[in-house]
Amino acid sequence: MDWRPDRTAKKAIYKQIADYIEGGIGSGEFPADSLLPSERTLAALLQVNRSTVISAYEELQSLGIVERKKGSGTRVSTDIWGVAHKRMPNWGRYMEDGSLMPNGPLVQRIRSEAEKTTVINLASGELAPSLFPNEEFQQILRKTPFNEHLGYDHPQGNRELREVICAHMKKEKQIDVHPDSILVTSGAQQALHLIIRCLLKPGDVIAVEDPSYCLSLPIFQSAGFKVCSLPVDEHGVKPDDIRAFHQKNKLRMLFLNPDHQNPTGAVLSHERRKEILALSYELGIPIIEDDPYSLTTYNGKVHPTLKSMDGNGNVLYVSSLSKIAASGLRVGWMIGPPQVVQRLADAKQQIDFGHSIVPQWLAKEFLGSATFEDHMMRLRVQLENQKHAMTSSLQKSFGEKISFLVPQGGIHLWFPLPNPVDEYQLLDRAIQKGVAFVPGSIMGSYKGYVRFTYGRQEPEAIREGVRRFAEAFHDTCRNEK
Ligand SMILES: Cc1ncc(COP(=O)(O)O)c(C=O)c1O
Repeated sequence: MDWRPDRTAKKAIYKQIADYIEGGIGSGEFPADSLLPSERTLAALLQVNRSTVISAYEELQSLGIVERKKGSGTRVSTDIWGVAHKRMPNWGRYMEDGSLMPNGPLVQRIRSEAEKTTVINLASGELAPSLFPNEEFQQILRKTPFNEHLGYDHPQGNRELREVICAHMKKEKQIDVHPDSILVTSGAQQALHLIIRCLLKPGDVIAVEDPSYCLSLPIFQSAGFKVCSLPVDEHGVKPDDIRAFHQKNKLRMLFLNPDHQNPTGAVLSHERRKEILALSYELGIPIIEDDPYSLTTYNGKVHPTLKSMDGNGNVLYVSSLSKIAASGLRVGWMIGPPQVVQRLADAKQQIDFGHSIVPQWLAKEFLGSATFEDHMMRLRVQLENQKHAMTSSLQKSFGEKISFLVPQGGIHLWFPLPNPVDEYQLLDRAIQKGVAFVPGSIMGSYKGYVRFTYGRQEPEAIREGVRRFAEAFHDTCRNEK
């Protein structure tokens, strides 16, 4: 406590102390039910007589702001709402009432544990720091003069970056697009948010893959949608399931992550892509193609995206630099009909006045540079090595007892546990052993599954992480017997 009473002021010292504590209660410095310093301690701290502190506490007691009991000290009252003349908001109630639901407790726990230096992080869906284009970014920063307009930029994002994205889309994904059809966003995540907020309403029925990244997010629940879960096999979702859901529920939108799907690693087959597009044309259901991973395909051959196959404007395409360059850059984009893009850009402007120019500039320089292809080639080789380290150590630890789809791109591996165990206990034990993973139930309705991200760690740490995980699994099995 740095505050001291002002001995030159006209206000009595006991009153200054009472006001200071009341202010601290209002600002949350002294929360409800917390114990205030003893009379003796506070008197010593503020260099006043104990009787002055007693007067201050009695003043607060008379207002109902504190409770005083002999032998147990002075506590901030638990029910100060309406008693204090300056009312303190009930923050707990406000936090419950907000329209955006918080992440589940398991997600919050993983997030806080996975970043600890003692824990091998097989949970966070991102690249290892050594895979970021650190050198390339350093070079851009050293050699390229930053000469951008520093005012608010175009609501759809920097024009030159959008032009570079057009060229990138054409070259890498055979998508013909005009800058007017592009919105630059804060990662793919913001594009998904804007689509949900601007194009759908509570009560709408949507279909998403199960398991999926979408199901790990509380945004769909917060938005009040009815969510139909489409099971994913090694070739993606089945068109017949979409038709069946539509017959029952009239789907308003379909969310797909067709390439190296998070978490299964599945790639939607070409046949199914064609059938799903035909369904979209027949039933008029828009498709959100969430595509952060297709460029990581290890053999370099990118499957035709739904967007490149769509001649009708039914697909809204979402991508980002997070999984191919740097997640912290927060640069993503959405492609769609210009009027839809303008609607979303208008909403983005209401939220943040458009994207910051600095990451847009870096993204423009990097995506448009000759070093981008070299970086991608290196990234694919290293991700494939990391995948190999993970699949081989899983086989070493569990042998025939587990089987999984070997990913051909992306950063995730999804597998069923050899036998069902309590996921919470397994996670606890794994964290104690020093490894974090994502329990399958976070990503949908699959119990007894695990998502490992091999993108986030180098091979040696992956091998050690899998070894620790296997120990945690065997311990949990023994405890459950
Ligand atoms: C399928 C999918 N979509 C979107 C995102 C969001 O990525 P970002 O906002 O970093 O671009 C992720 C992140 O893990 C993802 O896996």
